[in-house]
Amino acid sequence: GGVTTIDPGFKNTGSCESAITFLDGEKGILRYRGYSIEELAEKADFLEVAFLLIFGELPTKEELLKFEQDIKEQSVVDDDVKKIVDAFPKSAHPMGVLSSLTSALTAFNPSSVNVDSEEDVYNTVCKIMGKFPVLVAWTMRKQKGLPLDYGDDSLGYVENILKMMFKKPNQEYTQNPILVNALDKLLILHADHEQNCSTSTVRIVGSSHAGLFASLSSGISALWGPLHGGANQAVLEMLEGIKEDGGDTKKYMAKAKDKQDPFRLMGFGHRVYKNFDPRAKIIKKAADEVLADLGIDDPVLDIAKGLAEEALSDPYFVDRKLYPNVDFYSGIIYRGMGIPTEMFTVMFALGRLPGWIAQWKEMRNRKEPIGRPRQIYIGENLRPFKSITER
Ligand code: CMC
Repeated sequence: GGVTTIDPGFKNTGSCESAITFLDGEKGILRYRGYSIEELAEKADFLEVAFLLIFGELPTKEELLKFEQDIKEQSVVDDDVKKIVDAFPKSAHPMGVLSSLTSALTAFNPSSVNVDSEEDVYNTVCKIMGKFPVLVAWTMRKQKGLPLDYGDDSLGYVENILKMMFKKPNQEYTQNPILVNALDKLLILHADHEQNCSTSTVRIVGSSHAGLFASLSSGISALWGPLHGGANQAVLEMLEGIKEDGGDTKKYMAKAKDKQDPFRLMGFGHRVYKNFDPRAKIIKKAADEVLADLGIDDPVLDIAKGLAEEALSDPYFVDRKLYPNVDFYSGIIYRGMGIPTEMFTVMFALGRLPGWIAQWKEMRNRKEPIGRPRQIYIGENLRPFKSITER
C-alpha cells in the first residue's frame, strides 16, 4: 500500500544507523567517533581526523605515516585532466568545475569502482584523498590564469594544499604556519556533520552502487546550494553588499525579519543546532586570531560582529533559536587567507571529503538497501488521452 504521511525535508525522519558522528543540537555537542570537536580541533591534524572518520579509530604513528605515504603516491592526477580544466570558461563557478572533475576521475581510474576487498576500498580512499586537493588547486588556478602544477611530496597534507593553490611561477613559496594551522582547523571543523543534505546525497547515490567518485560528485553538487555549503560564499557577498550600501546593519536585520522579503541573514540558523553551533565558537576565535596575526583590519568583520550582536539579542532570532553557524565566520578567515569568495564552498568540500567517504563506506559495509523514498500522489486521476489536434 501507499504511505499516508510524509515528512518534507526529512525533519523528523531517520535514514540510517551510524557510528560516525554524534550531534546534539539542543546542547551544541559535536563528536567524531566519540571525540569532541573542541579537542580534535585543538590537538589533532586534519589527516588524523580523516583517518579517524573513515576507519573508526585514531591512527597509530605507523598507520598515519603509511596513510600519508599512500595518499602521496596516489596524488598524481592524469595530465589529460588538465584538458578538461582548460575547456571550462574562466567564469565557471568552481563548484561546478570541481563536481565535474571529480566525476571525470572515474574515467581515468576505472578500478576505483571496485569494492570487492578492504584493499580495493583503501586504495580508492587514498586515490581520492590524494587527487582531490589537486583538483581543488587546479580549479582555483584556472580561474586566476595560473599554470596547473602538482604538489610537493616533502610537505604535510595541508601545507601542500596551500602551496598548490598559491604558488606563483618562478617564485619561492614560503609557508605561513598561522595559515596552515587555521586551514587545518577549518578542515577539521567541516570534516563531518552526520546526515546533512550533501552527505545524505552521497549515501543515497552510493546506495545504487554507483562508485565512490560519482557519489562524491553528487555530494559536491548538493553542497553547492546557498542553504547548505554555499552559505559561506553567500555570507561574504551579503556582508560586502551591506558595506557597499552604507553599513546599516539594522536595515538588513529588518529585511531578514520581514516575511514578505525573501532576504535571509546568511550564516544564521541551522536545521539541527537550536542552541549554538559549537563549530562557530571555535571558528570565531580562530578568525580573530588569524586576522590579528595577519594584521588585517577588515570593515566587513565589523559588520559581521555588529549583525551577530544584534541578532543574538533580537526576539525574532532568539524565539526561532537562530544563531550564527559555522559558515558565518569561515568566509572571513578564507578571505584573510586570500582565497577568492567563489572558492569558499570548494574549501568546505575539501574539509567534508573524509566525512563523505566515511559515510559512503559505512553505508556499503552495512549493506544498506537502495534509498528510495515514497510519496503521496496528488495529481490528476485517470483521464482519456487527447490527440494534439484536440488540445
Ligand atoms: N534569516 C531569517 N530568518 C530565518 C533564517 C535566517 N537566516 N533562518 C531561519 N529563519 C526563520 C524562517 O523564516 C522560519 O521563520 P517562521 O517560523 O516565522 O516561518 C524559521 O526561522 C525556521 O526556519 P526554517 O527555514 O523552517 O528552518 P530550516 O531548518 O528549514 O532551515 C537553514 C535551516 C539553515 C536552511 C535556515 O536557517 C537558513 O536558510 N539559513 C541561512 C542559510 C545558511 O546559513 N545555511 C548554512 C547552514 S550551516 C552549514 C551547513 O551545514 O550547510
